[in-house]
Amino acid sequence: MKRQRRPDPIKAELQAAAARNDFLEAVLDSSYEGIVVVDHDGRVVLINQAYCDFLGRDRHDLIGRHVTDVIENTRLHQVVQTGIAEISVVQRIKGQNILGHRLPIRLDGKTIGAMGQLVFQRTEEIKGLVGQVNLLESRLEYYETQLHDLFGARFTLDNVFGRSEAIREAKKVALKAARGNSTVLILGESGVGKEVFAHAIHRVSQRARGPFVKVNCAAIPEQLLESELFGYEPGAFTGAGKGGKPGRFELAEHGTIFLDEVGDMSPNMQAKLLRALQEKEIERVGGVRPVPVDVRVISATNRDLKTLTTEGAFRNDLYYRLNVVSIVVPPLRERPEDIPEIVGKHLTRVCTELQVPLRRLSTAAMEALQKYNWPGNTRELLNVVERAVNLAETEVISVEDLPPALRTAAGRTGTTPVFQGTLAEATERAERDAIVQVLAAVAGNKVQAARRLGVHRSTLYEKMEKFNITGR
Ligand SMILES: Nc1ncnc2c1ncn2[C@@H]1O[C@H](COP(=O)(O)OP(=O)(O)OP(=O)(O)O)[C@@H](O)[C@H]1O
Ligand SMILES: [Mg+2]
Repeated sequence: MKRQRRPDPIKAELQAAAARNDFLEAVLDSSYEGIVVVDHDGRVVLINQAYCDFLGRDRHDLIGRHVTDVIENTRLHQVVQTGIAEISVVQRIKGQNILGHRLPIRLDGKTIGAMGQLVFQRTEEIKGLVGQVNLLESRLEYYETQLHDLFGARFTLDNVFGRSEAIREAKKVALKAARGNSTVLILGESGVGKEVFAHAIHRVSQRARGPFVKVNCAAIPEQLLESELFGYEPGAFTGAGKGGKPGRFELAEHGTIFLDEVGDMSPNMQAKLLRALQEKEIERVGGVRPVPVDVRVISATNRDLKTLTTEGAFRNDLYYRLNVVSIVVPPLRERPEDIPEIVGKHLTRVCTELQVPLRRLSTAAMEALQKYNWPGNTRELLNVVERAVNLAETEVISVEDLPPALRTAAGRTGTTPVFQGTLAEATERAERDAIVQVLAAVAGNKVQAARRLGVHRSTLYEKMEKFNITGR
């Protein structure tokens, strides 16, 4: 009968310990960082592959030797003595400055050894990564501002300045319209605040949490407007993106779409828009199936839509679809009583942003503003106020700080010199002046200046370069 061999507990234990040891060594060897461990006497007991590779030595030549014979400028043997960790220290080895840590190893309250870690900085790799992060960050910032402009309604009815009878009436209609779901048409001259009203209606409506998507129908070339509004399917036309693209109507789902300058739409697009409004569904360019949409439509124009319909330039049926509720924003010259409030609120805003003491207008300057006929309406008024804040040398803005046309209105000076040059030159000059003034006002801070000017930082840099403007 064969005698059964009893398992040898000691041997098993040894095998297990060896396996553990191999495992730990494998862990250390997997590290990117160089790791070395010394015992109480400062002799190397462990050193990983990364460290050996860096030193260009074989592990078997290093184990058991005193650390000072193995590594230049080491202090590990001292850390064993002091028991104090040395974190993020620079050590010069093989002519390179390397970041490292030295850590005491403790057991039962006693320091029994020390571990050194070398952090191999892959400078190029890190530089590359930092570069990528920066790029992504600035892209993110860009998209966030775009998103904010695209989807964020910035105004509520409180942001609509003015308490004249006419503005109060317009606000009342806007509020009523906001509560319902009907299509709203906003009429009024350029710069009266039609867009402000559109935002405000969205903000107080039940769709406030949904997107607010603006489309400027006059700014988008006719051939593009259809795919902009309704999107397209893959392969709809040459150059159509692979995955197709949703249009602004789809992007505005559960929110509001603001069709600005709707009076400038071509007859062809008018027909398509009418269809979308009637059916409450859109058809992507190249699509075969209509897509239902839940979107409130607010449109605006500074053109006389009614007359356009009688002239045949605007479809009658579309006009009635758009004009379920209409809001007429009166021009500023018809409500001069709103001017002091608009000026006051804007002064507060501008002075706060520019971090200058609050300015006020002299009586004569305020009178000049109220006498002027404001062809550019509120937009022009706000610009005049901003310009004056930048020009005024005292806390009181005087008639002299107003543009020539207003000084004339105030009956002070007579002749305004006729501008010599092209419109493009005039625009450039105005842009240059604005940038120089704002930069001076924010002490050269380009982030603040870009914000104040309502442009992205990169645009500001481009313009500064173009106009040869230096930092301050
Ligand atoms: N009642 C108002 N309260 C506050 N700001 C206003 C008001 N009306 C106009 N603004 C400001 O004036 C500028 C022009 O307004 P907005 O863009 O709404 O005009 P608009 O009627 O859409 O002009 P356009 O027909 O030229 O597009 C904006 O900066 C806007 O914030
Ligand atoms: Mg507008």
